Amino acid sequence: MQQESKRLLQAGKTIAFVPTMGWLHEGHLALMREGRRLGDTLIVSIFVNPTQFGPAEDFQTYPKDLDRDLNLANSVGVDVIFAPEIGAMYDKAFQTHVDLEMLPRHLCGLSRPGHFRGVATVVTKLFNIVRPHVAIFGEKDYQQLAIIRRMVHDLSLNIRVVGVPTVRESDGLAMSSRNTYLSEDERRSAQSLFHSLKQAQENVAEGIRDAEELIRGASELIGSHPHVKIDYVSICDPETLEDVDRVEGAALMALAVRVGKTRLIDNAILKPIAD
Ligand code: PAJ
Repeated sequence: MQQESKRLLQAGKTIAFVPTMGWLHEGHLALMREGRRLGDTLIVSIFVNPTQFGPAEDFQTYPKDLDRDLNLANSVGVDVIFAPEIGAMYDKAFQTHVDLEMLPRHLCGLSRPGHFRGVATVVTKLFNIVRPHVAIFGEKDYQQLAIIRRMVHDLSLNIRVVGVPTVRESDGLAMSSRNTYLSEDERRSAQSLFHSLKQAQENVAEGIRDAEELIRGASELIGSHPHVKIDYVSICDPETLEDVDRVEGAALMALAVRVGKTRLIDNAILKPIAD
């Protein structure tokens, strides 16, 4: 991959890059279509990164089908797939990490210690290998996108980071490789994540500004469904991810919910209509 990138750069090509963990779906493909538009050469990585999974998480069972992924990537015009073996990314003596100070202290960082250190480290390695001009990430993983933006800026990486809006199923459920774990029953309960975000947006449009009240409404809606356990429902500053008490200007509502054994996340911007 490093040789191929060197060759592309020497030929004056603009490289667009979409990092993924595979089991591709329409969300990933939307990122790739954006990448296709933004670069001469579109590179996609498929790597289930062990260092971003906690010991009790689904690293071993994460869904994989490289042939299927290659066909899907091909269908949207991907030029190069980079799918390294674990040993090529991490050798036994590996000991260098990229860690951010503040952004991982919120939302998913609290229930997934070390997760964003794993993400920031692997994305840095992938950036160094692929050497993209532009990298595309999904807003579905809002905190991840915020962390990558901050890291690219802080480390002067000279890569344009582009965010793409969340792609959803027809019933509103955010597409995710992990949706494949859901039973039919759980799938119905999973819709409550999107519905609770919609409800909060409506509440804000009706004039409710108090974060606690909005969070209570969302939690009650989600909690009324079977098989769910809320990890967090948070309303925070879209830049710093610190909790806010009131929705004045734009705020981010972010949530993580366990549906059966599957942990799902979603988010939306809450914004009072300017009067
Ligand atoms: P993965 O979960 O495979 O997601 C790859 C990219 O697809 C991420 O940028 C994610 O935000 C985006 N994505 C996933 N579902 C989406 C949806 N419904 N709509 C829009 N975009 C969506 O995120 C990772 O992998 C890893 O942490 C990675 C960045 C590859 C590092 O290992």
